[in-house]
Amino acid sequence: MIRLLLTITIVLAMVPAAFAWNEGGGEQEEALNLVPDLENAIEVYEVCAACHLTEGWGTKDGTFPQLAGQHMAIAIKQLSDIRALNRDNPTMYPFALPEAIGGPQALVDVSAYIAQLPMNPDNGKGEWAEGTPQFEQGKKLYIDNCVQCHGETGRGDVEKFYPLIQGQHYLSMLRQFEWIRDGKRRNANPDMVKQIAEFSDLDMKKVVNYVSRIPVPAELLAPSVDYLNPDFD
Ligand code: HEC
Ligand code: HEC
Repeated sequence: MIRLLLTITIVLAMVPAAFAWNEGGGEQEEALNLVPDLENAIEVYEVCAACHLTEGWGTKDGTFPQLAGQHMAIAIKQLSDIRALNRDNPTMYPFALPEAIGGPQALVDVSAYIAQLPMNPDNGKGEWAEGTPQFEQGKKLYIDNCVQCHGETGRGDVEKFYPLIQGQHYLSMLRQFEWIRDGKRRNANPDMVKQIAEFSDLDMKKVVNYVSRIPVPAELLAPSVDYLNPDFD
């Protein structure tokens, strides 16, 4: 018995940290190796549109995050994590299950679809406009603590599974940031958790305010706030 426990401990100790936060319940790897079928994606996405809207823009009050523009591999990871209960999302959970939308193929299809949607030109922003001291302090916090992973403009790094955070609604981001800091999001990257462990609630608001105000390049945005997704006429 003791020998068995010892073996298990050694094996667990050998698993690299990246594996634990980035395994997506086993399904993620399979989905990442499939070729997306965009026709099926539109059918799958209909379920999602009920909350995230047909444009994938979510809501400015942050209840529903914007999905449009997220890197495909990262959307796959988040969906696999939600299905594997590595993230608490009781509202969405039943709609994300294989019974509702299908297996790994549905994950890759809908994620590829999300990735190519034009983004909301008017995302929810924090309260401090450019030029205020809080904006500048948030910018400094961002440069010192976030750029190394999320990049200067918040585009993230798809190779390393660092999400796009540019253009996201302030309140949605604030909630995720807090959950990551406080360990409520069990799929979070351990290096990020370490990096932000000492952030006060005010620091958190300042840095997320800054991110919510990073301009998104015009070519990724929809032409106007009145844009409607033509796939859902
Ligand atoms: C009943 C409402 C609802 C439906 C339907 C729904 N979602 Fe969500 N989704 C949410 C909520 C609420 C969140 C944010 C939860 C949180 O804060 O962690 C979310 C979060 C997400 C996230 C994580 C985003 C991030 O930035 O962390 C992804 C990806 C996502 N949804 C994709 C989908 C897809 C794909 C579908 C359709 C198969 C779908 N959702 C259907 C409510 C819904
Ligand atoms: C060591 C790399 C790293 C650092 C440093 C880092 N992050 Fe992250 N961040 C990540 C990864 C990886 C995720 C996705 C984790 C997951 O899969 O749930 C993430 C997720 C997020 C999310 C949630 C995104 C979403 O849509 O679910 C926000 C918001 C965020 N980071 C903001 C920040 C801010 C602001 C800073 C600096 C104060 C920061 N991060 C520092 C790697 C990092």
